[in-house]
Amino acid sequence: MAQEIFDKVKVILAEIENTNPSSAEETEQFRIKYLGSKNILKPLFGEIRNVPNERKKEFGQLVNSVKEAAEKKLESVKSKVAEADEAAEANSLDLTAPGEPLSVGTRHPVSIIMNKIVETFSRIGFTVAQDREIEDDWHNFTALNTPADHPARDMQDTYYLLHDTEKLLRTHTSSVQIRTMENQKPPIRAIFPGRVYRNETISARAHCQFHQVEGLYIDENVSFSDLKQTIEYFAKEVFGHQTKIRLRPSYFPFTEPSAEVDISCFICGGDGCNVCKYTTWVEIGGCGMVDPKVLENCGIDSQKYTGFAFGMGVERIAMLKYRINDIRLLFENDVRFLNQFKSAL
Ligand code: DAH
Repeated sequence: MAQEIFDKVKVILAEIENTNPSSAEETEQFRIKYLGSKNILKPLFGEIRNVPNERKKEFGQLVNSVKEAAEKKLESVKSKVAEADEAAEANSLDLTAPGEPLSVGTRHPVSIIMNKIVETFSRIGFTVAQDREIEDDWHNFTALNTPADHPARDMQDTYYLLHDTEKLLRTHTSSVQIRTMENQKPPIRAIFPGRVYRNETISARAHCQFHQVEGLYIDENVSFSDLKQTIEYFAKEVFGHQTKIRLRPSYFPFTEPSAEVDISCFICGGDGCNVCKYTTWVEIGGCGMVDPKVLENCGIDSQKYTGFAFGMGVERIAMLKYRINDIRLLFENDVRFLNQFKSAL
C-alpha cells in the first residue's frame, strides 16, 4: 500500500522530467498542473497516513523533490519560451522594407519672417523681450504720450475687455517698450516681437489680429543717423543687398521726429509694378526718436539719454515677400497654402 503512493509520486516526477512546454500557453498549463493551488500532488498529501512512520520522512523528501523539479523546469522553460518569442518577432520584421514616409511640417510664413527679423537684429546686439497681450491703458497709450483725449487714439481701434474696461488687448507692441524701460536702466537695445489686436473689419488687407516687431535703442548720444543705419542694415539683410530705404516724415505720439519706413520695391527693382503701385517704394513700418516725455514717463533721464524706436508689421512683410494677396490666408491655416513654404527657412 505504502509503496503504491511512492510509485505514484515517482510517476509524477518522471512526467515532469519528460514534459517540455514550448509555448507561453503550455508553460502556464504546466505551472497550474504541478505548482498551482490545486496541483496534482495535493491529493497525495491526504494519503500520507498510509505511509508507515519510519518512511514518512523519505516520503516528504520525495514530494519536495517533485516540487523542486517542477520549479526548475518552469524556470528553464520560461526563459526558453521568451527567447523563442523574441526570435519569432525578429523574424517577422523585414528590415529591408523601405521606411514609412514622414510627413514633414512647414513653418508658418509669419514665423519665418519673425525668425528672420529676430536673427537679423540679434547679430547687432539686440536682445528679445516679450510681454502680455492684455494690457492696461498706461502701457498701451498714456505712457506712450497718448493720454485719454488724444486724437491719435483714433489711429488704433481698440478692443477693451468687457468685464474689466481698464484692460485692453494691446494695439501695438510699443507697450513692451514701456515695460522694458520701466524695468531696465539704459543702455537698452532690444526687439519685441508679438501679436497685437485692432477692432478692424476683416478684409483682404486688414485683420483684427496681426504681428509686429518693435525695436528700441536707448543710450547716451543715440542719434537719428543711428536709426537710419539700423533700418538700412535690416532692410538689406531681409530684402536683399540692393534694397534702399526711404524715411518719410510722419507723426506718432511717442516719437519726435517720426518717420514712415519705405523700402525700394524688391519685386520690380524700380521699374514699377502693382505691388508698389508704380511708386517703386513699399511701406513696411514706422520709426522715430523716442519722445523725451516717454523716457521721463518711464523714469529715464531725457537730458542724459536719447533713443530710437521702430515698429513693423510682420504680416505686411510676409505678404510683400511671398506675394500673398489676402491677409486672411495667414490665419486660416489651410495646409494647401502652408505647404507652399516647405523650402523657406
Ligand atoms: N506702434 C506703431 C503702430 O502700431 C508703430 C511704430 C511707429 C512703432 C513708430 C514705433 C515707432 O516704435 O517709433 O502703428
